[in-house]
Amino acid sequence: MRRVIVAANWKMNTTPADAGELARTIAGRTRVDGVVRIICPPFVCLGPVGDAVAGDASSAPDGSPVLVGAQNVHHAAAGAHTGEISASMLAGLATWVIIGHSERRRDAGETDTQIAAKLVRAWSAGLRPILCVGEVLADRDAGRADDVVEGQLRGALAGAPIPTPVHDAGADLPWLTIAYEPVWAIGTGRNARGSDAAAMAAAIRRTLDDLGIEGAAVPILYGGSVTSANIDEFLAEPGLDGALVGGASLKADEMAGIVARAGTTAAARAAHATTG
Ligand code: PGA
Repeated sequence: MRRVIVAANWKMNTTPADAGELARTIAGRTRVDGVVRIICPPFVCLGPVGDAVAGDASSAPDGSPVLVGAQNVHHAAAGAHTGEISASMLAGLATWVIIGHSERRRDAGETDTQIAAKLVRAWSAGLRPILCVGEVLADRDAGRADDVVEGQLRGALAGAPIPTPVHDAGADLPWLTIAYEPVWAIGTGRNARGSDAAAMAAAIRRTLDDLGIEGAAVPILYGGSVTSANIDEFLAEPGLDGALVGGASLKADEMAGIVARAGTTAAARAAHATTG
């Protein structure tokens, strides 16, 4: 039931002049059945990327398109917030949005309260959020990683008006996806172990269940120095459903390798589901 998802987080890279071509190249090289492919470029590149991936040349043989996501959304609906982008402004440009990325928690001081409000804005505009959680190294070393992530989840999701069921059967896509991204693994070339990420995914689902959100229906992605060389370690874990990819997502070769492996996992899951 849970989809296999590969989301590309381009961060503050690419320009409106070159983003479309990169997106088109990645789309053409990742035409794999069964994988939800999402590209999250900078705001100013959403239009060019959307235009570039529209059409059959980007679709997988099963017809699934490349979807476009934003990297952030403001927590207010509108008003005096110079330089910010609201959920309603993303209509027609994005169908997904990354919320609470650790770089925004760090650089913009985003709080759990703001992140909770961003989720509400996203859902009310029909955007599907990827909520990022993860501990810093000091927390992991002190044995506090589970507690930190649980706190982030409770801060963002307690009482949240999440559309139900969380797996939207009509679109066959989730209304909530979690990206577990240990901060010490992001952009460092030092990835977590698959088994540690899987243990955290199980802890995340326990917290979701406790919050009244069906954890078993929520895809959990791993993020942090994912490459085509280490993605198998994460896809081998049944509790992990794909990856949020940063640096490697700017390279078409890397994305081709990552999505190909995700396709193998998706096919295995589909075969398992039909044979029971
Ligand atoms: P990275 O970034 O793959 O470059 O570590 C992942 C992320 O921050 O989403």
